[in-house]
Amino acid sequence: MQLHQFERGLQGRVAIVTGAAIGNGRAFCERLAEEGATIVIADIADASETQQALEALGATVLSVKVDATKPADTQRMAEEVMKAFGRIDILVHNVGKYEEEPFELLSFEQWKDMLSLNLDSLFLSVKAVLPAMKEGGFGRIIALSSDTVWLGTPYLTHYVTSKMGVIGFVRSLSSEVGKYGITANAVTVGLTAIQRPESQQSGRVSSSILEHILPSQSIQRADEPEDIANVVAFLALPASGIINGQAINVDGGVARH
Ligand SMILES: NC(=O)c1ccc[n+]([C@@H]2O[C@H](COP(=O)([O-])OP(=O)(O)OC[C@H]3O[C@@H](n4cnc5c(N)ncnc54)[C@H](O)[C@@H]3O)[C@@H](O)[C@H]2O)c1
Repeated sequence: MQLHQFERGLQGRVAIVTGAAIGNGRAFCERLAEEGATIVIADIADASETQQALEALGATVLSVKVDATKPADTQRMAEEVMKAFGRIDILVHNVGKYEEEPFELLSFEQWKDMLSLNLDSLFLSVKAVLPAMKEGGFGRIIALSSDTVWLGTPYLTHYVTSKMGVIGFVRSLSSEVGKYGITANAVTVGLTAIQRPESQQSGRVSSSILEHILPSQSIQRADEPEDIANVVAFLALPASGIINGQAINVDGGVARH
């Protein structure tokens, strides 16, 4: 048997990661860049720190300032990427927010804000990049969901509804776009280290949620962003082209009841 010359798996590919200025998205950019991808950071916030870190790794990087809930912004995002690189191969839909609220206190405004940021943004980003993926005959759409969709975690009706919507979206879309060489998958993420109360994201995950989840994990630690990034990179590879319309669970082995 002859060994093939090893090539980084995403060399020559262009990957857009939404919500990548901080947190999980930044780890996804780093992992995709390690595989050789050109990285587009699409975020509403300043992403210069992440851009510099990626460039220090030797990556080609473009930052696009975008409100992912605005059609004109996501359209401009795709146009800027096509102008700069002439192709879009990968979309990691990472933008999203987490918020706990007991249902009886949840307002209609909170409900709509959640669905807008977590779901409208997915619709708009995919609408914007799909023509380029179709033209290139290759596409990987990877959308971040949450393992809370399987768990019945309290105080999250709006969040869980949006994240279940992400799964429904990729499952249906996958059956339409597979014939063009495009896959659409979701990653259902567990409690991630960056959201621990003692971390930078202080207070976003309440101690009641921590108490609810950690004891039921077979691996007694929160996910690290790098754990999720490995799965995102795997789904982005050309070799993963047979995986379509799936939700891959990355949550430390939470037992389901
Ligand atoms: N961290 C966790 O424990 C966890 C668990 C399950 C799922 N997730 C999912 O993973 C994804 C990332 O989570 P995170 O904790 O890294 O988030 P984060 O809040 O740390 O980062 C979100 C990023 O999105 C950007 N952003 C916010 N609104 C935007 C908008 N309108 N347009 C463009 N960019 C916008 C922010 O500037 C930020 O860079 C989310 O979809 C989240 O639901 C996270």
